Amino acid sequence: MAQLWGGRFTKETDWQVYHFNASIGFDKRFLHQDIEGSIAHVTMLAKQGILTDAEKARIIEGLNGILADVDAGILLIDEDKYEDVHSFVEANLIDRIGEPGKKLHTGRSRNDQVALDMKLYTRTQVKEVDALLKKLLEAILHTMEENLETYMPGFTHLQKAQPITLAHHYGAYFEMFKRDRDRLTDIYKRMNYCPLGAGALAGTTYPLDRDYSAQLMGFAGPTMNSIDSVSDRDYLIEFLSALATIMMHLSRFSEEIIIWNSNEYRFVEIDDAYSTGSSIMPQKKNPDIAELVRGKTGRVYGALMSLLTTMKGLPLAYNKDMQEDKEVAFDAIDTVKNCLPLFTGMIETMKFRKDRMAESAMNGFTNATDAADYLVGKGVPFRDAHGIIGRLVLYCIDKNTSIDALSLTELKEISDVFEEDVFDAVSLKTCVEKRLTFGAPGPEMMKKVIEIQKQYLQEEA
Ligand code: ARG
Repeated sequence: MAQLWGGRFTKETDWQVYHFNASIGFDKRFLHQDIEGSIAHVTMLAKQGILTDAEKARIIEGLNGILADVDAGILLIDEDKYEDVHSFVEANLIDRIGEPGKKLHTGRSRNDQVALDMKLYTRTQVKEVDALLKKLLEAILHTMEENLETYMPGFTHLQKAQPITLAHHYGAYFEMFKRDRDRLTDIYKRMNYCPLGAGALAGTTYPLDRDYSAQLMGFAGPTMNSIDSVSDRDYLIEFLSALATIMMHLSRFSEEIIIWNSNEYRFVEIDDAYSTGSSIMPQKKNPDIAELVRGKTGRVYGALMSLLTTMKGLPLAYNKDMQEDKEVAFDAIDTVKNCLPLFTGMIETMKFRKDRMAESAMNGFTNATDAADYLVGKGVPFRDAHGIIGRLVLYCIDKNTSIDALSLTELKEISDVFEEDVFDAVSLKTCVEKRLTFGAPGPEMMKKVIEIQKQYLQEEA
């Protein structure tokens, strides 16, 4: 056990206690961040005359050596020997370069160190998740462009409601994932302040230049209050909340794909590469990827709840409870980063059964509102038109037919306002094409929306 704090102790730590307390098993993930932070710290210390330039150079060389050796597999992170990644780096630095290594931790605490590592790590993850979302948006937009006139029923209560197009339906998901990216941008802006130099909780008496450290690591500036610096995990809660929302969106999308892929709907065919079979039922082709994405949503929500609960009772400033932020956050981040590209691949390769979708849009009275609007166009008040079409629907159900399949004579029996032009007015094509309000499915409107979204994806390069 290479501990950083043996001085005031007269007994060895109990072995079980040591393991219970240790975080090396998971914070070894911070090796790069820990070393980046240490390099910035010693660079600042040397600028302030707290270390000599020669000491700084030896320390940086030693730190880079550790990083290179771990990356090359020459140096192993021994989980039985070091309590956390910070002790691992410091102990190895001292082994390598001797005396100057002992000066690395001047004017620093593990509290501001771990706050920095977590922030550096999260900052990178925010960008990586954002890049994956962008790829998903590109795939969605591609499908939209190709399906301006692919008709399908729009649903409310999972009951057929009004006809829409696939482009329009996908456009709804485009909006969701676009907002998810906006959220990440906001989080990044708010979190991008550097906690290094806050010390254990009360700053330090060394003349640190916190602005300089912050600048070295690309932060907008240093954090304002040293107590808050070491005890704030809000940014992580915000990120987990954003990840939970992304999963909620992916899960809704997955649910629809599962429904569309069902034997009853057959709107889509998931590519063989993204489906699995059954060990007993030879006919089966299951939408496992969509189901797993839907299923994994729970653990991401769990991470958010876990961290909120960990933080809720903590007095200021640092408490060891906060070590519990890592495993749940890592799991949530890994989960989302796994789900996004797989989901994107699944929708990129999925085939649409356009005939089935149009057929489904044609029955189920999705044109009932348009039939009522037709009567309104002929001067019937909307409430009366609604009643007339209601009776018409009942008649069709009884005869097992649809509004557009009736003869003019049958229509006139219900209302003599109907004329020959009704058939065009209630055709699927007309029903969709005439929906031209901003944000509606009419292909002319959708073309404009697609242009705006294309522009957005280009600008957000
Ligand atoms: N492993 C600790 C964590 O993750 C590092 C900070 C330790 N600080 C302390 N005062 N024990 O939070």
